[in-house]
Amino acid sequence: MCGIIGVTGDDGALEVIIDGLHRLEYRGYDSAGVATVRGDGLWRARAADGTHSVEALVTATAGCGGDRTGIGHTRWATHGGPTVENAHPHVDCTGRIALVHNGIIENHAELADALAGAGHRFSSQTDTEVLVHLLETEVAGGAALGDALRAVMSRAVGAYSVVAISADDPELVVAGRRSVPLLVANDDGAGFVASDVSALLGRATRYFALEDDQVAEVRPASLRVTDPDGAEAEPTALSVDPAWDVVAAQKGGYDDFMSKEMHEQPRAIEDTLFDRRDHDGSLVLDELHLGPDDLRAVDKVVVVACGSSYHAGMVAKYAIERWARLPTEVEIASEFRYREPVLHERTLVIGVSQSGETLDTLEALREARRAGTRTLVVSNVVHATMAREADGALYTRAGPEIGVASTKCHVAQIVALEVLALALAQWRGTLGRPAVSLLFDQLHELPELVEETLGRSKEVEAVAAALGGARDYFFIGRHLGYPVALEGALKLKEISYLRAEGYPAGELKHGPLALIEPGTVVVALLDPLREKMTSNVAEAAARGATVVALASDGTPEVAGLAGVEHVLHVPAVPEPMFAPAVQVVPLQLLAYALARRLGNDVDRPRNLAKTVTVE
Ligand code: AGP
Repeated sequence: MCGIIGVTGDDGALEVIIDGLHRLEYRGYDSAGVATVRGDGLWRARAADGTHSVEALVTATAGCGGDRTGIGHTRWATHGGPTVENAHPHVDCTGRIALVHNGIIENHAELADALAGAGHRFSSQTDTEVLVHLLETEVAGGAALGDALRAVMSRAVGAYSVVAISADDPELVVAGRRSVPLLVANDDGAGFVASDVSALLGRATRYFALEDDQVAEVRPASLRVTDPDGAEAEPTALSVDPAWDVVAAQKGGYDDFMSKEMHEQPRAIEDTLFDRRDHDGSLVLDELHLGPDDLRAVDKVVVVACGSSYHAGMVAKYAIERWARLPTEVEIASEFRYREPVLHERTLVIGVSQSGETLDTLEALREARRAGTRTLVVSNVVHATMAREADGALYTRAGPEIGVASTKCHVAQIVALEVLALALAQWRGTLGRPAVSLLFDQLHELPELVEETLGRSKEVEAVAAALGGARDYFFIGRHLGYPVALEGALKLKEISYLRAEGYPAGELKHGPLALIEPGTVVVALLDPLREKMTSNVAEAAARGATVVALASDGTPEVAGLAGVEHVLHVPAVPEPMFAPAVQVVPLQLLAYALARRLGNDVDRPRNLAKTVTVE
């Protein structure tokens, strides 16, 4: 989850690194640091200033520069607090090797004991530091830096990526990875390493993904990649999606990325739907790489995902079961892999992930493949590790999402999964072509409906203002309103730090109702199952809850509903199965408005990171 960048052969290496760190901040911002080769030694600067660590690093490095080789890091703390001492890069006892790391070294305690016994001095509480001392040992034994890294990786257990430089080989950056992403890139006369392509956009012309346990030796004019046994290997060339340009990764006049990304939702839906229909009206999902025959053979679907992607997966369950009549389970990825799931060759396991790199989901998909199932990933990042490893992929085309709280990618995932459900129904013959065609036409109405919902942000802001100092929220819904309620609660927790729980409305009376008291806010999605929801709203209101009802236009009776104090209206959606993509929007806006009122940084919520590559 940390962000890594390495550069060699560029006279402005420090500027490139700092700029890259700004673009990588979404991966973690507990601290930031840089090390460069300067003169015949290393120079290092680090800063830890909460969500402003990269800015603090900019101040700390002002007036410096002129070095050609260096590495940088933004940290999401796992082992050791977010302090300067724990900030990367870490250096060895000689001060001649510097290293940055992302992920977790699971056997770090055992390695640290052995290294301390051999006289190495540690200056941080991180698991990372063992790596640089292990490198030091290998180099002292005569190994070149690349060979030394390979040896270190053979001893370090876990999922991680690591990048290092040495004052003794001033134009070399070495890099290796296991289970977490790392790419290398080059241009004429400069070489780069980064945990994510966004750090290098506009800098390099050729990009390559490192595969598990490969080590790259990057020099200004050469790139050498080796397998764990030292044999030369070909890295996988990546084509960078033109939608992922530098401009797309900037705020474009909005106050923050979250706001910009919420307003990009209509476009994200349009792009995700684009070109999915053949001239005869049938759906075609080109990048799927699984043909109709493969999918006709499927007799069970399992969706694995985390966070907002899991909520999108829940929507998929309703759609796949309804249209394709396939039993569908949805499971939190981190739980799936440890429970010995029953899988076979007719099961289709679908991983849903904005980043395509979330370790829990990646490992769940690997587990599924080991069991002999077909795997499919719904990802926003082309060539992400999940997309490369799965049998097939379906891309959401939302463009880069920088805000930690997922908005446009979540909505694009819902739409992509609905398209997939329709395609499964078409191939299995459970829906006729006219029905598929009509539903697909109705999907095309979503961009406009979402646009209209975004246009109602003032209503939402007024409700946020009225809710004032409330600190406890419940989001309740039934059927497809349930995943939307979960997503609304997650958005609010993430960026406002207010206590928020999502519940199936019918479940309130089985326990959580005990928590409802005057001052508790209950946000209720009245549709679907409005009559049942009405009773649940009354039950909450009777206990003193402040009720905010989310209702479709044309629900006049809502204003008179017992206990409803505020109403958020959304446009009516032609097909109820598509409603989540619209209903979630006011909940995003509500979380945003409440978080802004509290003065929070909506793009960089505390303790979180965008891409979660630890278990
Ligand atoms: C969403 O707002 C969250 N930041 C988080 O729950 C996210 O959806 C989750 O970490 C999964 O990420 P992924 O989609 O990249 O796999």
